[in-house]
Amino acid sequence: MHYDTLKNEHGLPHDPFKAIVTPRPIGWVGSKASNGTLNLAPYSYFNAVADRPYYVTIGSNGLKDTMANIEETGVFTVSLATEALFDHMNGSSVASGPEIDEFALTGATPQMGKFVDAPFVAESPAAFECKLYQIIDLPGANRDKKTGNFVILAQVVGTYINDDFITDGRFDTRKARPLARCGYMDYAVIGSENMFETNRPELDEHGRLKAPEKWDGTYR
Ligand SMILES: Cc1cc2nc3c(=O)[nH]c(=O)nc-3n(C[C@H](O)[C@H](O)[C@H](O)COP(=O)(O)O)c2cc1C
Repeated sequence: MHYDTLKNEHGLPHDPFKAIVTPRPIGWVGSKASNGTLNLAPYSYFNAVADRPYYVTIGSNGLKDTMANIEETGVFTVSLATEALFDHMNGSSVASGPEIDEFALTGATPQMGKFVDAPFVAESPAAFECKLYQIIDLPGANRDKKTGNFVILAQVVGTYINDDFITDGRFDTRKARPLARCGYMDYAVIGSENMFETNRPELDEHGRLKAPEKWDGTYR
């Protein structure tokens, strides 16, 4: 199949888009309303997009509490959602009004940021503290009217790491076991069973690819 995606003519019972963009990291976003209510919610339209300074993006499908808080306060946090915290992460996605504090609801412990006035999940192995740079109000297919979907672009100004997750000077992703969002209702867990290590390759004197030095060939 090969279909017009503006019309979304896939003809399948479920839209395959998110099953193709997979695995997606889950940005577990902590924010605080101007009245002081804390908020926590997962966003898998999330990624890192730039180095030094580091930038992250979040896609909000509609004006949700997270985005309203970020617009109001200009700050938020992103905690790493892990296998051990799955129930807390999923619980925090519940449809609820702005008066509901999903930290209290799910039992995740809020810890206020060191660099921004927004809470992150104390139980998480790592979190970013972020300052809003820009919100992009996404236009529709013909770029005529707005969709009500937004991209939040922010600079990372602080990073928290639980020292228990530093092994030999590296953040230990295998130990943290982050969750990834796949298509439909699927998730994956990133751990030593599905990670491998290798360098980028170089070209040899004939302009051909040389095998990367650290590629041990144990996983394909
Ligand atoms: C794993 C996961 C990923 C999600 N990703 C997104 C996303 O990228 N964008 C979005 O708008 N909603 C996403 N949602 C739904 C929101 O978490 C949900 O609408 C939540 O209630 C929003 O909370 P808020 O109003 O407190 O911001 C996701 C839900 C789950 C469980």
